[in-house]
Amino acid sequence: MPCSIIVGAFWGDEGKGKIISYLALKDNLDFCVRTGSVNAAHTIWYEGKKYALHMVPAAFINPRTRLLVAAGANVHVGQFFKEMELTKADAKLVGIDQNASIIEQKHSDQDKASAVNKGIGTTGWGVGPALEERVRRTAKLAKDIPELKPFICDQVAEVNEGLDEGKSVLLEGTQGFMLSLFLSGGYPYVTGRDTGASAIASEAGVGPTRVDDVIVVFKSFITRVGAGPLPGEITKEEAQKRGWFEVAAGTGRERRSAPFDFDLAKKTAKINGATKGALTKLDIIYPSCRGARNYGDLPNEAKDFIKEVETRSGIPIVFIGTGPGALDLIDRR
Ligand code: IMP
Ligand code: MG
Repeated sequence: MPCSIIVGAFWGDEGKGKIISYLALKDNLDFCVRTGSVNAAHTIWYEGKKYALHMVPAAFINPRTRLLVAAGANVHVGQFFKEMELTKADAKLVGIDQNASIIEQKHSDQDKASAVNKGIGTTGWGVGPALEERVRRTAKLAKDIPELKPFICDQVAEVNEGLDEGKSVLLEGTQGFMLSLFLSGGYPYVTGRDTGASAIASEAGVGPTRVDDVIVVFKSFITRVGAGPLPGEITKEEAQKRGWFEVAAGTGRERRSAPFDFDLAKKTAKINGATKGALTKLDIIYPSCRGARNYGDLPNEAKDFIKEVETRSGIPIVFIGTGPGALDLIDRR
């Protein structure tokens, strides 16, 4: 897997952070490039500690992986430094592309003040207004921020040269495909950018022919925060009864939930050009799967569910999440 993209299948929070952190260790990644912005939190459980990262790539648990923030990303300076402290990432291994744009407090204020955005139920970080400013070409760029100087790099050149040398690169998508500004069909209840695989490659300056694998991350049930349709939505009480009720890692908001949607899985696999799939939180649907590391140890009903996901999405499920830890996973490759 020299170059892989991780993309969320639904409305975010599928467990991308967990899959990325597993691959960081297992495949000993050379590069991990975070795209998007501060609105998305990736949760990583490692050595008994929980990390919710909005800026630093989820591969930080491998102390030799080069951790990069993409040229197309949008950087929150305060949050970046907070996470550098939290993760104790080696500053020499962390880089921010010179041309990444900067998200500021004023963008968050504008986001929160906007009646339209309130109707959408944004995260309030201000990503929409920050991207507006970037498009107007009045945004600050990472290279303009003195505190970021030690981290400024040419991410695009580094990653393309790395690929020339056969190094492994993981492009870390954020949020989920159903929040895509262009492709989800959910406008205006979407985020401010395309969250699909092609856009993830584009933000990191990796041409489509250089990508070997697109890994779509499904969760065993679906959750959504903010407004907008959620087909098959169940009540909070029902979600609590089933053990599906979640609170957002980033904003503390309650997540809405619905059962797995096979038609949506097929759509997201196709439009993202997925080659492989991951299925997380199988242990929430089938508690006896908790902590399993071998496919053979799963009960038949769980295997039947996985087979149905494969048949109806058209892609093989190669990673199965069976618990929150980075290593609670069945790897079928
Ligand atoms: P914004 O991205 O803050 O503008 O919010 C737009 C919509 O995307 C809202 O419904 C948010 O709840 C949703 N959203 C943005 N980022 C994430 C994420 O990382 N996970 C889940 N939902 C998100
Ligand atoms: Mg999240």
